Amino acid sequence: MNGSALLLDRDTQDDRTDFRDAVLAGLSARPRAIPAKFLYDARGSALFDAICDLPEYYPTRTETGILRACAGEVATLSGPGCALVEFGSGSSVKSRLLLEAMDRLVAYVPIDISRQHLDQTAARLRRDYPGLNVEPVCADYMALERLPDEVSAARRRIGFFPGSTIGNLTPGEATAFLKRVRRLLGTRGALVLGVDLRKDPRRLHDAYNDAAGVTAEFTLNLLRRMNRELDANFDLSGFAHEAFYNPVEGRIEIYVRSLRTQAVTVAGRTFTLAEGERIHTEYSYKYDEAGIRALAASADFRIGRFWSDAERLFAVVYLEAPDDRP
Ligand code: TRP
Repeated sequence: MNGSALLLDRDTQDDRTDFRDAVLAGLSARPRAIPAKFLYDARGSALFDAICDLPEYYPTRTETGILRACAGEVATLSGPGCALVEFGSGSSVKSRLLLEAMDRLVAYVPIDISRQHLDQTAARLRRDYPGLNVEPVCADYMALERLPDEVSAARRRIGFFPGSTIGNLTPGEATAFLKRVRRLLGTRGALVLGVDLRKDPRRLHDAYNDAAGVTAEFTLNLLRRMNRELDANFDLSGFAHEAFYNPVEGRIEIYVRSLRTQAVTVAGRTFTLAEGERIHTEYSYKYDEAGIRALAASADFRIGRFWSDAERLFAVVYLEAPDDRP
């Protein structure tokens, strides 16, 4: 495949319909909620890239530092001739560290829901690594059932799930996702997983409430997207981004808050939001080492290696599937 992404039975119309159905269901539910994956349209993906550069948002640069230090070890643990499969690749900045360290990669498979982001990223990678076989897959990786055939030819499939995106799943969803990944990666598969660690709540709070307001813009982009794609009429001045750490659940909770009582119309349906009422958009669960171990075990993975930074802000773990051949 050259230039374009493999689309697994999806097109723009499906995306629009999914978005509409999810939004109408989510705004009708109590508490109201819209799945976080819809934050990542082209503008949302670009805003997320900007979040990663914010001074308050330590995860990206901390994880990048850890990966820089451990990429050689990942390459040694994986061995030559692997396929590298990234779940939610975005701009694939961190994956470059693994791509450069790993020996004779058979394929790099970036999976992302944003078609535009994926095509741009694939083009850039093909330009920068002419010898690399890039096999993009445009899909919701939470629902992905199969990988491109070329990937099966690899001696081993190594998954990559950075950015603590695992924390955006509830623990139950995280277990289900890891089980699916284990099946997709197959025998002797391994997963390089980035996980944000529990820490001083102040530090966590600031990472989701940056002074420049980029995170707020990212959250409110969901309303803009509804206005544009679902013929909605959200007045952006009537809503605010809200994010706080819930120490009992060990998670950041993110919402769109209605600043006044107001009616909004979305795809022909009207919803009334009370002053102070919230629409949930995202959780970001934080783990400690024992929690990561338990999560891995719940999906029948074991921790092969655990890397962290000096401040213990973030962890990168190498999860191995047990060799289940008889
Ligand atoms: N995986 C990122 C995280 O949990 C996603 C993220 C960062 C995010 N900032 C956000 C999601 C703000 C919604 C709103 O850190």
